[in-house]
Amino acid sequence: MCGIVGYIQTNKSLNSWKLVFEGLEYLEYRGYDSAGIAQIVNNRVEVTKAVGKLANLKRKIAKTPFSLSNAAIGHTRWATHGKPSIVNAHPHISSNGQVALVHNGIIENASRIHKTVLGGKKLQGGTDTEIVTEALAHILIKEKDLSKAMFKLVNILEGSWAFVAMDINDSSKIVCARHNSPLVIGLGENYNFVASDVIAFVNHTKNAVEIKQDQLAVITCEKVSVFDKHNQEINFTSQKYEILWDINQAQKGGYSSFMEKEIREQPSAVRNTIYGRRTNEGIIELDKLSFDKSYFAQINKITVIACGTAAHSGYVARFAIEHWCRIPVEVEYAHEFRYRDPIVDSKTLVVAISQSGETMDTLMAVRYAKEQGAKTLAIVNTLGSALDRQCDAVLYTYAGREIAVASTKAFLAQITACYLLGLYLAEIRGNLFIDEITTKLQELKTLPDKIAKILTHYEEICQFAKLQKRQKSVLFLGRHIGYPIALEGALKLKEIAYIHSEGFAAGELKHGPIAIIEPGQLVFVIVPPQNDRAGVHAKVISNIEEIASRGARVVAIAEQGDQTLPKGITKTFFRPKTPILFSAILDIIPLQIFACSLAGALNLDIDMPRNLAKSVTVE
Ligand code: G6P
Repeated sequence: MCGIVGYIQTNKSLNSWKLVFEGLEYLEYRGYDSAGIAQIVNNRVEVTKAVGKLANLKRKIAKTPFSLSNAAIGHTRWATHGKPSIVNAHPHISSNGQVALVHNGIIENASRIHKTVLGGKKLQGGTDTEIVTEALAHILIKEKDLSKAMFKLVNILEGSWAFVAMDINDSSKIVCARHNSPLVIGLGENYNFVASDVIAFVNHTKNAVEIKQDQLAVITCEKVSVFDKHNQEINFTSQKYEILWDINQAQKGGYSSFMEKEIREQPSAVRNTIYGRRTNEGIIELDKLSFDKSYFAQINKITVIACGTAAHSGYVARFAIEHWCRIPVEVEYAHEFRYRDPIVDSKTLVVAISQSGETMDTLMAVRYAKEQGAKTLAIVNTLGSALDRQCDAVLYTYAGREIAVASTKAFLAQITACYLLGLYLAEIRGNLFIDEITTKLQELKTLPDKIAKILTHYEEICQFAKLQKRQKSVLFLGRHIGYPIALEGALKLKEIAYIHSEGFAAGELKHGPIAIIEPGQLVFVIVPPQNDRAGVHAKVISNIEEIASRGARVVAIAEQGDQTLPKGITKTFFRPKTPILFSAILDIIPLQIFACSLAGALNLDIDMPRNLAKSVTVE
């Protein structure tokens, strides 16, 4: 949520602002309510801001070009405090013209700072970032040095921040600080970057330095200095790492949207998450474990916490883990979890699922769980993210970079990781025999090819979606493991096509929701496998009859060869034969393609839907 970039170089032959702009383009998934860039030119600041997406900023810069400069900072915003406007857009420039600052996060005691440090002085917009910029400029008058002023400032702040700031009278350095929001430095030769995510500079350097919680950094063209929370300079060698992926992962590769590309990458997202997890002895291993495995045999409950799509993967996980491990699994939205006084103790394993590893609600819920004595395990796609570092154990999803705001391949990878966790626990707890686990793993390994098979129907699903442009409301029904898939199918359509959609438990229909079925209502129904053993297939067929007889147009997602589907179904998309517990991973694919294609047909911005951001780093 909000992307920030800073760049500093020795010579001015490269346009600093262009490199910052390029970085912002890669970070735009983090927010796109407004954007801006500032740079220092001969002790004065040049700043351009625009409301809306980066394309608007680009047009403005083209009209009033920037000068050559050796340092620039930029920001792309997801509005928290204050509406999207030029006044509230970053970079903020202090009223005395001395400080330029970009910020990602929320300063919770901003109004107190306004009163105590600034004496309640009149402000232009009054956002937390404007207050902080004024406060930094105020402190700088006394401290004379930007890094010392930043240190003083962060010591009186509460909330979350990643700051990148410049002193307009001193273009030799950029100063940054972080607390609960990410920041990473990119090391170059005679230049350096700083950004919310390495994606902003991976095209230029693969040498990164993670700025850790409560650290402050001073970046010049040739040197990076890192300070701890006591303002003591530290040796940061252990924070250096090499970025192992390529910028191609952050490009559309010929597809019209990142979402389509990511849907098509799902076979490899699942494959990569499965492989490399088994030792020669055939044991599944976690990626990180800071306690003894025997703990898993003693737990009496698993609580899954997550938000959005990640939470839906948790609902899928519950079916598999409870069935295989005979242990109760609760799934809860992270933002609800810690406010309801949950029963969590040292025998609870808390599993936090997140693509970004940055979602503040999830991080706060993990912190709460740890305080109650629970052990925490992350299922996370972003190596080195806050969640990765915060949890006691980690199972990575290897989906690769996910850029589109609406999550697709990360969802499939999360479900896959949950299956692996279930089998891992079943092995340790002795719930399944090794040969049973092996059989299930073999089944899991067939999924990438089955996903690829469904993807061969991409065009057919797309053509069907294009005919549904006038839909005002779409319903999704599922039972058992199909229920979370109905929720996820509805979420995808809301997120990117802005069409009212709801997911229901099919059995709940007759208890109320059936009242909204009118002739012509489009309803997607997830039909379980015929030999589901849970006995829900026949029930779902009855549910189809109930809504079809009331005029609903039914789209079924059903098993190849299912002869029991009632006549009169509008359309059926088939999935290859798969046991019910694994079917969820296949059933969501037509729904993802449907949402993506319908949003495309409606000419909407598929990758950057309105009001949303990829990582929600505020509570
Ligand atoms: C935001 C995104 C969703 C995502 C959710 C959780 O709301 O728009 O697509 O599912 O955050 O994100 P996480 O990174 O924790 O998986």
